[in-house]
Amino acid sequence: MLGDKDRIFTNLYGVHDWRLAGARARGAWDNTKAILDKGVDWIIDEMKKSGLRGRGGAGFPTGMKWSFMPKEVKDRPHYLVVNADESEPGTCKDRDIMRHDPHLLIEGCLVAGFAMRANAGYIYVRGEFYNEAQHLIAAVKEAYDAGLLGKNACGSGWDFDLYVHRGAGAYICGEETALLESLEGKKGMPRLKPPFPAGAGLYGCPTTVNNVESIAVAPTILRRGAAWFAGIGRPNNTGTKLFCISGHVNKPCNVEEEMGIPLRELIDRHCGGVRGGWDNLLAVIPGGASVPLLPKSICDNQLMDFDSLRDQRSGLGTAAVIVMDKSTDVVKAIARLSYFYKHESCGQCTPCREGTGWMWRVMERMVTGNARIEEIDALEDVTKQVEGHTICALGDAAAWPIQGLIRHFRPEMERRIRARTEKLAAE
Ligand code: NAI
Ligand code: SF4
Repeated sequence: MLGDKDRIFTNLYGVHDWRLAGARARGAWDNTKAILDKGVDWIIDEMKKSGLRGRGGAGFPTGMKWSFMPKEVKDRPHYLVVNADESEPGTCKDRDIMRHDPHLLIEGCLVAGFAMRANAGYIYVRGEFYNEAQHLIAAVKEAYDAGLLGKNACGSGWDFDLYVHRGAGAYICGEETALLESLEGKKGMPRLKPPFPAGAGLYGCPTTVNNVESIAVAPTILRRGAAWFAGIGRPNNTGTKLFCISGHVNKPCNVEEEMGIPLRELIDRHCGGVRGGWDNLLAVIPGGASVPLLPKSICDNQLMDFDSLRDQRSGLGTAAVIVMDKSTDVVKAIARLSYFYKHESCGQCTPCREGTGWMWRVMERMVTGNARIEEIDALEDVTKQVEGHTICALGDAAAWPIQGLIRHFRPEMERRIRARTEKLAAE
């Protein structure tokens, strides 16, 4: 269990002052110049040694991503872009960083921007996050007024400007290349990768896109040292992590914990347990809507980190833990997610545009049992036709929850079909 002394987010619930004075009192902006004075190579090396893996969902090593930026600025400017378009169902951690500790993010932007030789950064905020954007804008102004941003930021000799940009409320704009398109003023549609943003990103220039939490933890890692962060959790799954726990628990919450904490401990310690007790648990989606759910039998001993969850053919994703007790209609729950992905598909590639609608319609029939048993296999087959055959990860995200349902709850799907068939025969 993580002790208070190892927590990075000390104002997660907003009980303290989120403005500059409060942030400084909690340790933010403490001699940031000294970090920058250590130089680009030291910063990137330290980030690599910390083992930090991207907190937006995919878990790509952050230090390595920073190192992909060209070593020198030549003909094109470099950009830092922060993905604050947090929209994954169940996820509300970046929201609370921006609400209650915006200076952690802003200081992180300066450090990251410096490390990747960017003189400008953009924070792309989810359209619905109006209040969060207001806090960020006010905090950015405070940082400029205090000489922490702008020309000769923090007295480091490095110029760094930071802009807050509000999206218009589309899930797909959280996909990094769709976000870049949107930032450029175009329709938010994902680009084919490669090229990755470090080669051709915003306006075709070298760009790194990072999640809010990944950037916000960077200054503390650099201040306290990579060894401190790497000493929390376990190899390849290091550090502290914000978990968002919702659904059928007694006290839903956001909490910063050690990576790799057992799922049951996370729920019992911080959420007052599953509603009706652990034995009343049916299933958990451990990492936001896009990852497959896990039945109770697996949840009993599950560790919450990238590799442990991947071993169960699920994922840590955004660490949004959605708890479902035995009152849940699990087929209906996954059908609802199918509708979400159908609704949010940008429609530019056929397997996703057609497949998400097809999967949703079949899932709706599975809810009432209005299907044939063989259609479960047909449905699974369609998920495989979509998975890995689309421009962006939304296609995978639409396929995986259904695959998880079939893997773990096929008997329940078959039971409904048989019950309906028997009922019709009896009429
Ligand atoms: P990805 O694995 O394609 O990429 C992850 C990051 O690593 C990207 O920044 C990408 O540019 C970089 N990268 C990967 N391979 C690279 C290479 N060979 N060279 C250079 N850079 C490379 O995953 P993606 O599509 O960015 O994210 C998918 C995840 O996002 C899902 O697993 C889901 O958990 C999460 N997600 C999060 C949401 C949120 O609200 N935070 C919303 C929806 C999904
Ligand atoms: Fe658009 Fe879906 Fe293709 Fe992604 S997978 S680019 S959301 S159609």
